Amino acid sequence: MAKDTIAVVGAGLVGAGWAIVFARAGHPVRIFDAEPSVRAKVLDGIRANANDLKHFDLIDDVEALMARITVHDDLGAAVKGVAYVQESVFESIPVKTPVYAALDTLVPDNVPIGSSSSGIPASQFTEHCKTRARMLISHPVNPPYLVPLVELVPAPWTSPDVVDQVHALMTAVDQKPIRVNHEVEGFILNRLQGALLMEAWALAREGAASVADIDKTVSEGLGLRWAFMGPFETIDLNAPKGVADYAARLGKLFHGIAASRNNPEPWEAPLVSEVEKERRVDLAADKIDERRAWRDRRLMALAVHKAKAVKQFG
Ligand SMILES: NC(=O)c1ccc[n+]([C@@H]2O[C@H](COP(=O)([O-])OP(=O)(O)OC[C@H]3O[C@@H](n4cnc5c(N)ncnc54)[C@H](O)[C@@H]3O)[C@@H](O)[C@H]2O)c1
Repeated sequence: MAKDTIAVVGAGLVGAGWAIVFARAGHPVRIFDAEPSVRAKVLDGIRANANDLKHFDLIDDVEALMARITVHDDLGAAVKGVAYVQESVFESIPVKTPVYAALDTLVPDNVPIGSSSSGIPASQFTEHCKTRARMLISHPVNPPYLVPLVELVPAPWTSPDVVDQVHALMTAVDQKPIRVNHEVEGFILNRLQGALLMEAWALAREGAASVADIDKTVSEGLGLRWAFMGPFETIDLNAPKGVADYAARLGKLFHGIAASRNNPEPWEAPLVSEVEKERRVDLAADKIDERRAWRDRRLMALAVHKAKAVKQFG
């Protein structure tokens, strides 16, 4: 059966990634971006990513995927008759607000509209829309076709049915949606990431370890488990009788650590330049793009491994 058409509005880094997610799952995808130069080159970027995915056997057919994606120079034409809209324009209230005012009238009432917003809650740019009940945050991780988590965050006026619909769609296209019950700054992912980052900067500020060794603590330590389980399951398995046992044994230690950081400091310029200096010794500025491509290849290898491991171990 033919799959529903999906519109991707805003086709930078994240929008182009979303196009791959939906097209990979067999959906026709219509892309709109306000910037002609982005429209002109977006398919080349998608093709390069699709070739990488093919190289890792993560997709079967690059040409079939590309054939499902079209680029449009008119927003109305891009969203006509679609079953879902994924918005990924700049992270800015003044940019998102008029886009939502336009989608409010251009997109049929019953079609959900999800925003990739990383931190701005939907209530800040959908309030004045008459169809705001079908608008919500659908926040991906970059690149969405390799990191499947999607945070679904309703505004106070988002219909619970719409959250259910988008949850079902994301599951069907092989993403891993979670429900955030109400708007909270940074949603879940960036609050967890923020807690770790705040501590990493604080440890660097205190000279507790080098930047490289702080990173290594995650890449060769904590992060290995985090590729397949979260913090609660981690501690549930790290005390003989589970999470309550862990809380009894180590709750005081972690409370003490948190209490010692009750006055979080900004990432001030001298500290940032110290960390920058250390990073540039390990990675020259002109090698950052290369290393990003390396990261994506490692993520592809991890996606292959995870799929295999799920089959083998559950
Ligand atoms: N980059 C990330 O790691 C990441 C991860 C998750 C979510 N996000 C979120 O996704 C959204 C997009 O981020 P990005 O990194 O892709 O940014 P980007 O700058 O790469 O892309 C944004 C695109 O939106 C287009 N655009 C701007 N105004 C527009 C309009 N009125 N109509 C149509 N297109 C318009 C721009 O031309 C640009 O191509 C932001 O809300 C961002 O916070 C980013």
